[in-house]
Amino acid sequence: MKSILGIGNALTDILAILPDDSLLKEYHLPLGSMQHVDMETGDRIWNALKEIGVKYVPGGSAANTITCTSIFGMPSGYIGKIGDDELGQLFKSTMEQFGVRTTMLHSDKSSGRCMVFITGANAERTFADYMGAALEMGPEDLKPEYFEGYDYFHIEGYLVQNQDLIAKAVQMAKEAGCIISIDMASYNVVESNNAFLHNLIDRYVDIVFANETEARAFTKLEGAEEALRELAGHCEIAVVKVGKDGSWLKKGEEEYYIPAWPATPVDATGAGDTYAAGFLYAHSLGMPLKECGEIGSIIAAKVVEVVGTKIDVPRWRDAKAEIRKLIDKVNG
Ligand SMILES: Nc1ncnc2c1ncn2[C@@H]1O[C@H](COP(=O)(O)OP(=O)(O)OP(=O)(O)O)[C@@H](O)[C@H]1O
Ligand SMILES: [Mg+2]
Repeated sequence: MKSILGIGNALTDILAILPDDSLLKEYHLPLGSMQHVDMETGDRIWNALKEIGVKYVPGGSAANTITCTSIFGMPSGYIGKIGDDELGQLFKSTMEQFGVRTTMLHSDKSSGRCMVFITGANAERTFADYMGAALEMGPEDLKPEYFEGYDYFHIEGYLVQNQDLIAKAVQMAKEAGCIISIDMASYNVVESNNAFLHNLIDRYVDIVFANETEARAFTKLEGAEEALRELAGHCEIAVVKVGKDGSWLKKGEEEYYIPAWPATPVDATGAGDTYAAGFLYAHSLGMPLKECGEIGSIIAAKVVEVVGTKIDVPRWRDAKAEIRKLIDKVNG
């Protein structure tokens, strides 16, 4: 079985259901917004939330993808940076519980977290992010041996803001012989690092995952199909995801539209991260391009049926059976 290494911002979601919006007012957080806060504010908010009762869910885009490839059975590793604190330990041990081999770097700053305030009858979400230790990961942290023995290297687009880190990481990954994939993560990231990202993808990246807005930001082209064709000129495999409308894939002359797998959606969080995991798993088994997209779609359809990013056991069982059928059909 081929192996995969991911790199990303090691962040833990701290979720709290609040009786009213008084805490939002106290911390000047507009309802429904996402704000970055400093360490002091981050610690004050966390302490206030602890009194109410919180749920901790370690995550971050690449961490979600890597957890999922590990559950598929791929030997999976993860590089991220945490503080010397409970939250960092929780992040590490949760990843390890899912079988991920972690390389956790340490910072003097406290561990990164995304505090999620859930308020009102519609469970509206307001976010206060403290990136902390995660933002401290730099090129000097990376060692060639971290990459040795891995077949795939997956990058979370949010890290592209740290250009020196990513430049060093892809060099080491290429030297180790890895196939390199990137999930573009957010159109803001693409817009503010466009030249760097173009150079990175042209020179190093084999597989690119983008949603429609990210693909548009990268190519300056409107439609998903037009953007797909342009993107595919820069890498070996281009994937453009269009939510409930499915995804588009292109590799050289091959091009496919993959409809979304049927689902009863409740929360789309993690759809993109999970799709990437299914796609890469299938690719590592040598599946044809179309089946890679279908396997990504099957597993993504399960995560949209649950709240949060962790697929439950019955849905994992269903997905694995559906995927097994597809693989058996290909293998005859
Ligand atoms: N409602 C849905 N029903 C079934 N499948 C879905 C649904 N929404 C998303 N998917 C699947 O998940 C894939 C990825 O979703 P999406 O296009 O939202 O990616 P994304 O924008 O990168 O997501 P994220 O917000 O997690 O980063 C889609 O291509 C599709 O296969
Ligand atoms: Mg995404």
